[in-house]
Amino acid sequence: MISTIEAGAAPTTPSASPKAASASARTPVRVVDVWLLDLQQSTAGLDAVLEAAERERAEFLCTAALRRRFVVRRAARRHILGGYLGVAPEQLRFSQGPNGKPQPVTHEPLQMSCSHREELGVVAVCADAAVGVDVEALHLNVGPSSEELDPLAQVMMSPVERADFRALPAALRRTALLTTWTRKEAVVKGLGVGLSLPLDTFDVPVDPGTPPRLLARRGAARDGQQWSMSGLTLPSGYVGTVTAQGSDCRARIRSWETHR
Ligand SMILES: CC(C)(COP(=O)(O)OP(=O)(O)OC[C@H]1O[C@@H](n2cnc3c(N)ncnc32)[C@H](O)[C@@H]1OP(=O)(O)O)[C@@H](O)C(=O)NCCC(=O)NCCS
Repeated sequence: MISTIEAGAAPTTPSASPKAASASARTPVRVVDVWLLDLQQSTAGLDAVLEAAERERAEFLCTAALRRRFVVRRAARRHILGGYLGVAPEQLRFSQGPNGKPQPVTHEPLQMSCSHREELGVVAVCADAAVGVDVEALHLNVGPSSEELDPLAQVMMSPVERADFRALPAALRRTALLTTWTRKEAVVKGLGVGLSLPLDTFDVPVDPGTPPRLLARRGAARDGQQWSMSGLTLPSGYVGTVTAQGSDCRARIRSWETHR
């Protein structure tokens, strides 16, 4: 089971500022395990752990590639969570939040979030705090011209973000747009509200070189909780972000394929 760890060692000698030292020693770092799934792998033996509704959903997908990806990520999710919870993958049950966020039915405070794009799947797991994760493929079919990027920026960015976006060098704007999208989706997935939350109710940095964090929240985005974010180091061609409740989170990248 993963756990919340303490940031920084407790001071061994008296500090000039005991209050500051003890605050820093107690700052909890949320360790979020981010499991990467290679969705190109064979489904052999994997569909056996799915429940009937999942198998039925797979059957309705219209291409073999979509069916394979679905079976691998749903089976992987069951194996991964079952590993933390000590439950056989086929015995796991899931409930859905009001906006569709799935969670394993368990007495443990374990939280998860999932995302997938093309052949990459991710499952983020945290011992005791809500998490949200999102990944995007950088070769998404969007050109670098402002005619193509600006309408997307208009839909997904707040006015502050759009102004920062327009100030970026043209060569950076496509990566910036997709990175920003993962930052914003990770937030709405952490909150569990999905796209029912207007994306212009909060701001994140749009420059991919700036570490992700929540800069401002307005209206429904103000849930009274602290949220922290971390960029993900992913296979070439993908960008991603994870967010967790709390003041500091650290992503620990793991590969599910090698842990079977
Ligand atoms: C959640 C959402 C933002 C993700 O969309 P996406 O980028 O197309 O897909 P991703 O692969 O990144 O994420 C999909 C996963 O998000 C998770 N998810 C679904 N709804 C979620 C929610 N409300 N909060 C957090 N996670 C959610 C699921 O695990 C889903 O994978 P699964 O179907 O295999 O279980 C989007 O589908 C959504 O908002 N859904 C909720 C419906 C909704 O609010 N609609 C309002 C439209 S105005």
